[in-house]
Amino acid sequence: MTDHLRTLFEFLRFPSVSTDSTRADAVRDCAAWLDRKLKQIGLKSEIHQTPGHPVVVARNGERLVGRPTVLIYGHYDVQPEDPIDLWHSDPFEPELRDGIIYARGATDNKGQLLAHVLGVAETIEQEGELPVNLIFLFEGEEEVGSPNLENFLREHATELACDVVAVSDTGMVGPGVPTFTYGLRGISCLEVDIVGPSADLHSGVWGGAVANPASVIARLAASLHDAQGRVAIPGFYDRVTPLEDWERQAWADLPWTDEETLQHTGASALVGEPGFSELERRWARPTAEINGIGSGYQGEGSKTIIPARAHLKISFRLVPEQDPAEILDLAEAHLRAQHHEGVTLSIERGHSGSAYLMDPHCGWGKAAQLALAETFSGTEPALIREGGSIPIVQTFKDVLGADTLLLGLALPDCQIHAPNENFPVENFEAGIRLNRSLLRCLADGFGDAAR
Ligand code: BES
Ligand code: MN
Repeated sequence: MTDHLRTLFEFLRFPSVSTDSTRADAVRDCAAWLDRKLKQIGLKSEIHQTPGHPVVVARNGERLVGRPTVLIYGHYDVQPEDPIDLWHSDPFEPELRDGIIYARGATDNKGQLLAHVLGVAETIEQEGELPVNLIFLFEGEEEVGSPNLENFLREHATELACDVVAVSDTGMVGPGVPTFTYGLRGISCLEVDIVGPSADLHSGVWGGAVANPASVIARLAASLHDAQGRVAIPGFYDRVTPLEDWERQAWADLPWTDEETLQHTGASALVGEPGFSELERRWARPTAEINGIGSGYQGEGSKTIIPARAHLKISFRLVPEQDPAEILDLAEAHLRAQHHEGVTLSIERGHSGSAYLMDPHCGWGKAAQLALAETFSGTEPALIREGGSIPIVQTFKDVLGADTLLLGLALPDCQIHAPNENFPVENFEAGIRLNRSLLRCLADGFGDAAR
């Protein structure tokens, strides 16, 4: 096993699940490991406590004029391993099978984060110094919506000031297809609780005379979409801006087919908003999704009750110009406007983050695409948006005034957030080379085109 892999395996062994409070120690230990690693490679690194999980910041000495300041962001927290039964190996004991690393966080985001770190380490080792002023910013709360990072950015805005941000936490169109992502969807979340009778009731004795919370929640859930698959919340699309012609054309030309989406998802047919292609629906159109719904008896056989309560978890994926808070206002108004006698409805808002969109043809974008092409044998990078969210990316723009270059290395079958998450060694090694090229291309571009 190579040193690179040994280091990644150490990193992957921390069960740094940010949403699980019983794992807070593992998250902390993982931050401490990262801090040690960054010091070992010659950077000045510090762990910063927050009201949640720690942030690790490292840099290469003093800022020098005449070279760009590049902030590289990543997250060392991971999603829960749940459902554990479906894993073929222990999610926190990484395994290498046929050139592929299996572990929770292998792709999202430990493998991609460490590729940044090892690329920097090799540049320092071989060249003695970096061609840029580098800031590493690694957080432990991305998977729970980065609740403390915006404050952290505002408090440390001077130290974190930079010309451009780079992040490897998105995907590639396919193996060996270098991919530059210039847009992300935003997100906002909502939970609905319906309370009916004071306890579960015998559905024969009382049924017919009192409201059933499960029926109410089903109606509310169904009211989110019309029969064509458009979101039915009044005002939801008001601020949505159209796609540009060049991007519709570029995406139509990508080596990706509807058939592949069927294969990767196991779905039997594609559904969605009329008038848009499958990629447009996922990357550039807003959606409402039910992430969880629950009420009543779920065990074996039947149990004749009227459940006392019901719950619904909803998230919206948003596109540029949609305001996450405004979308929650509209959603809440839409849900409250439906009067259901005999139950009480309460709504709790969850985390949210704005969508992100940049011009891929700007100077920094071109410099990053050059690095991608260099890394992947001269292949011209695909220019895409992604449907997933990295809420802090728009906050970088708002607080630091810097655009983010999204240089993802995840493949469509890396199973992020799912059992058997995996990362090909090939992508990990490409990521290390990519980071070396990237710093050079950004330094070369500084001062002329890339300003
Ligand atoms: N790395 C993902 C986001 C991603 C995945 C972007 C694939 C593009 C392609 C990130 O770690 C993630 O999962 N984000 C969450 C954010 C949420 C919890 C606020 C998401 O998108 O659900
Ligand atoms: Mn994730």
